[in-house]
Amino acid sequence: MPKKFIAGNWKLNPPDLSATLELTRHLKARLAPFSETRIAVCPPFIAIPAVAELLKETRIYVGGQNLYWEEAGAYTGEISAPMLKSAGCTYVIVGHSERRQYFGETNENVRRKIQAALKHGLKPIVCIGETLEEREAGVQQDVVREQVEEALREMEEAPLGDLVLAYEPVWAIGTGRNATPEQAQEMHRFIRELLTERFSHEFAQTTQILYGGSVKPGNAGDLLGQTDIDGALVGGASLDADAFTAIVQSAEQSA
Ligand code: PGA
Repeated sequence: MPKKFIAGNWKLNPPDLSATLELTRHLKARLAPFSETRIAVCPPFIAIPAVAELLKETRIYVGGQNLYWEEAGAYTGEISAPMLKSAGCTYVIVGHSERRQYFGETNENVRRKIQAALKHGLKPIVCIGETLEEREAGVQQDVVREQVEEALREMEEAPLGDLVLAYEPVWAIGTGRNATPEQAQEMHRFIRELLTERFSHEFAQTTQILYGGSVKPGNAGDLLGQTDIDGALVGGASLDADAFTAIVQSAEQSA
């Protein structure tokens, strides 16, 4: 069985560089014993080089939280895939629901970002998931289908080998209200079926699908124990070294 993957999304945290480096040092010490789980942290852009330097000889990978699809030019405030790569990133989160909700990102933007990431050797962690209104209206599968199909439209299977998907129901993000393991498993299986419709069976089986949305030490074991849940994208709990370590420990136990 492939390793589970636990990624921490630090969002607009910690408050400054010294607090970010302190968190990184704690994580480095606490996570050193765990070798059966793939681990990544995604700090704010400005902290990436320093965090990557601290984690250089560890098994903890670094990721960006966003990128722009152009490589260079007059795009004030944006960060490119080659910039992230040269700063020490292996991964990049694409299409997080906060980007879609607050910064107007569309499925078309997400597709261009995935292509830019892959072109420059970054592994995209592509976020999909329905809102509360959509779930209450019973259209969650239609929403996720459209997000997956649009994000991967006209893409070939071969370059997508590094793709990671993250199912994050918007109603579960930062709300303390997580999807039940059964709800999450049902959607993960559906996403795998969508991949099977478009790509080979092997690709669908081996593409990692993470769950995100209020993952905590108390619920990680049950979520990670589901057949189609290959890991977790962790927001709030990734800012607490003890909580993040406990989630990684659950991943090791369910591997
Ligand atoms: P949360 O965030 O764990 O704080 O709910 C998850 C995410 O947004 O990736």
